[in-house]
Amino acid sequence: MFESLKTRPADGILALMQMYKDDPRPTKIDLGVGVYKDATGLTPIMRAVKAAEHQLWEAQDTKVYTGLAGDPAFADAMIDLVLRDAVPRDSVAAVATPGGTGAVRQAFELIQMARSDARVFVSDPTWPNHLSILGYLGIEVVNYRYFDEDTRGVDFDGMIEDIKTARAGDVVLLHGCCHNPTGANLNMTEWRAVVDVLLETGAVPMIDIAYQGFGDGLEEDAAATRLVASSVPECLIAASCSKNFGIYRERTGLLMAVSHNTEARKLHQDTLAFLNRQNFSFPPDHGARLVTMILNDDALKADWMAELEEVRSSMLGLRSQLASELQRLSGSDRFGFLAQHRGMFSRLGTTPDKVVEMREKHGIYMVSDSRMNIAGLNEHTIPILAKAIIDAGV
Ligand code: LMR
Repeated sequence: MFESLKTRPADGILALMQMYKDDPRPTKIDLGVGVYKDATGLTPIMRAVKAAEHQLWEAQDTKVYTGLAGDPAFADAMIDLVLRDAVPRDSVAAVATPGGTGAVRQAFELIQMARSDARVFVSDPTWPNHLSILGYLGIEVVNYRYFDEDTRGVDFDGMIEDIKTARAGDVVLLHGCCHNPTGANLNMTEWRAVVDVLLETGAVPMIDIAYQGFGDGLEEDAAATRLVASSVPECLIAASCSKNFGIYRERTGLLMAVSHNTEARKLHQDTLAFLNRQNFSFPPDHGARLVTMILNDDALKADWMAELEEVRSSMLGLRSQLASELQRLSGSDRFGFLAQHRGMFSRLGTTPDKVVEMREKHGIYMVSDSRMNIAGLNEHTIPILAKAIIDAGV
C-alpha cells in the first residue's frame, strides 16, 4: 500500500532550517525558524523553567496519566494568563494540547465537526502551517487582505472589507499579537472595528496567540484576545507556551473554547476531550506542569516575567538598531517599519529572488516571503544584514 504515497511539498520554514545547518560558512546568519536566540546565538532554558524542573525532579513521584484535558490546574493558570477576568471562568472549556500547533489543529477539527461547511478566513499572509493543516483537513480557506506591501503595515480597510463577506458560522482566524509572518499588527481601535464586523456577520473568531509577552508586554499582548473573547458570543483561542516559556520541544499549548452559553460548557469540554482522545489521547504533561508551577509561584513567576521582559526589550533594541543602520545606509526612512513591527518577525517586503541572492551572497537565511526572525540578529550581524539588504536593492 505504501507505494501509493505521494511526496508532499516540504514545509518552507523547516526546509530552510536544514539548508542553514548544511551551509558550512561560519559567517552565516539564521533569521529563519521562529526560535528566540540570545546575543550568543543560544536558545536558553529560562531561569524559572530550570528552577521548576529542578523542583519537579525532586517532588514528582509518579508519571501516571493526567486526564484527557491535561491537568486542570494548567488550564486554570493559562486561562488566567491569557484571559485574566475578561470572561467568567465557567464560560471557558479548555484542553492541553501538544504545543500551539496542536491547539490549532484541534480547533480546526472542532470547527469541521461542528460545521462541515464552515469556511476559515485567514490573513494574507498567515503562518504557512495554518494553510497546510486547513488544506489537509479539506476546510475551505478564504484569504482576507492584511499586509500592505507599500507601507509594510496592515491594510486595514482591505481587511475589514474582506472579513465583512464572512457568513454566520464561518470562522475568522486572527493572530492575537505579534503577527506571524509580517510583524504588522492592529491597534486597539482597529481591533474594536474587527469585533463590530464579527458581531454584524455572526462569524466566529479563532485567535492564535503564540507570542504573548514578545510584543508590547504580557498584558498588552493579551488585550485584543480579551476584547474579542468578552465581546462575541463564541470564540476559539489557541495559545502556545513554546516561545514565551522557551519550552519549544516540550510541546505545550492550550485550546480554549469560550461560549457565553455556559450551560453548554460540559458539552464543549467533553467534545474537546473526545478530540484529544481520538488524536493522541493524553496530552504531554512535562511542559504544562512547569508552566503551572511557574504561574502559581510568586517567586518563579516574577523571575519568569523579568526574563521575558529582557527577551522582549532585547528584540526591540535589535529592531531599532536595524532600522537606524538601514536609515544610515539608505539615507531614507523607508525601513522605519522595522522598528514599528512587534514580536519576533518582520516581513521585509521583497521578492523571493532577492531573498535567494542574500542567502547565496551573504549567507543570510530568511523565509522566502522575506520574513526575518529579528531574534536571530545581534549587534555584530545587524550591519551585515543591513548592507546585504541595500546591496540587493530592496
Ligand atoms: C515559526 O513560524 O517559525 C514557528 O512557529 C515554528 C514553526 O513551527 O513553524
